[in-house]
Amino acid sequence: MTGNAPTTEQVSSLLDDRDLVVVSNREPYSHEYEDGEVTVSRPAGGLTSALDPVMQSVGGTWVAWGSGDADHAVTDEGGRVGVPPESPAYTLRRVPLSDERVEGYYYGYSNQVLWPVCHLDTAKVNAREEFWQQYREANRAFADAVCGEAGDDPVVWFQDYHLALAPRFVKANRPDAFCMQFWHIPWPSRDVFRACPQYERLLEGLLGNDLVGVHTDAYCRNFLDCAAALPGATVDRATRSVVYDGHRTFVRPFPLGVDADHHRDLARSDAASRFWREFGDRHGLADVAVALGVERLDYTKGIPERLAALERLWETRPAWRGELTYVQKASVSRGEIPAYQRLQERVRSEVERINDRFATDDWQPVVYVEDHLPQTGLAALYREADLCLVSALRDGMNLVAKEFIASQVQDPGVLVLSELTGASEELGEEALTIHPRDTHGFADAIERGLRLPSDDRSRRMCELQRQVHASDVYAWLDAQFRTVRAIRRGRQRATPPRGR
Ligand code: F6P
Repeated sequence: MTGNAPTTEQVSSLLDDRDLVVVSNREPYSHEYEDGEVTVSRPAGGLTSALDPVMQSVGGTWVAWGSGDADHAVTDEGGRVGVPPESPAYTLRRVPLSDERVEGYYYGYSNQVLWPVCHLDTAKVNAREEFWQQYREANRAFADAVCGEAGDDPVVWFQDYHLALAPRFVKANRPDAFCMQFWHIPWPSRDVFRACPQYERLLEGLLGNDLVGVHTDAYCRNFLDCAAALPGATVDRATRSVVYDGHRTFVRPFPLGVDADHHRDLARSDAASRFWREFGDRHGLADVAVALGVERLDYTKGIPERLAALERLWETRPAWRGELTYVQKASVSRGEIPAYQRLQERVRSEVERINDRFATDDWQPVVYVEDHLPQTGLAALYREADLCLVSALRDGMNLVAKEFIASQVQDPGVLVLSELTGASEELGEEALTIHPRDTHGFADAIERGLRLPSDDRSRRMCELQRQVHASDVYAWLDAQFRTVRAIRRGRQRATPPRGR
């Protein structure tokens, strides 16, 4: 644990010593068989890396889908295992899901209905009836697991869009539970949300929570607009709350941050320097400017749009050929879904085409890496990059932008940031803001970033770092748990003492 991490005592006091149960689709550790041996891996992705340090500090139980092929070989008869494996600090309770359920609930409803709807790409929605049935059943399985784990008066914290129905199931069984949920992706406007055929059922499920958190004010307003149209719901905009079925749910923005101190320390590590020496030599990066992109291969991340802007730059300003190399770290994601397969193929073939078009004997325009990198390797790329290019077409927040900023421990680089990310609300002023589909403007911003004088870069980065350290993952956690306490205190005051 580093920096601003709260102590166990601080969190316990905010939670009034109640047990914490975190619930998410993705597990923080998965066990896999490799050559007959069981190995442990940590899935890529913002959610699990943000919450694991929190759970290590607080303790409690994390309920998640056991997706590794050796997951159920290492759990006890109740599906539990202590994690992190090297020094267990909390309990991971794995929920087994059949292949058919995973197909319908995860690859289907979560990622072919909710994901495109919330990212405003309704043309990609594939609303098959069996997806919805599997989503409901999976949510019930998660809710049952929670009810089996939670002690008296627990705080149950659901994560993300995979679990919109589970809060109401839990609340029906365990009215003593304080249920809260953080929605890690954008919340769209009412018109867009209605593209999802079960939008009313989803809202009902979410309104089983006592508190719903989203990243930004805009998503908060969108959620209240959607709830206002739900028959039987009353929205109070002054308190940002919704009463439905006799129960009040508060809705609040809590912008997610990263463990900034941890990223800074990784970037300063000897392991990061060693990685860079080897990586830089292998790809001839010593004497060129480096632009960097880091993401899952997802159609929301704007990778082809970014490649188009880079191509425009090399095409119209040939002085940058041989002078600027773009490093793309990409992780394969949700590969069973056709839209993701198409995106993967498109990115790989565009990289090849651009390299064929501009490469010289001693320079390759795009270095493309799909292999897993150690945390220190990623930290080295962030540290050494002159530019970080974040060009998402829609992103709830975007933690890559924040990780890059936290890793700028030497000559400061420049963040080029899409105005369509949640992060743009916080970081837009000191980043160079772009629209990912404005290829010309995007290419200009890349060149401007490369030419920014060092005092301007330092001033911008200083302000961005102040922001990223002040609003780190622990500030996010603290704000939510303080809100939990305020809601509970408010309810206690509103409840007349017994016997009167
Ligand atoms: O952004 C939403 C999110 O669920 C993140 O929280 C997570 O980092 C990412 O998607 C990973 O997706 P998946 O679990 O489908 O690999």
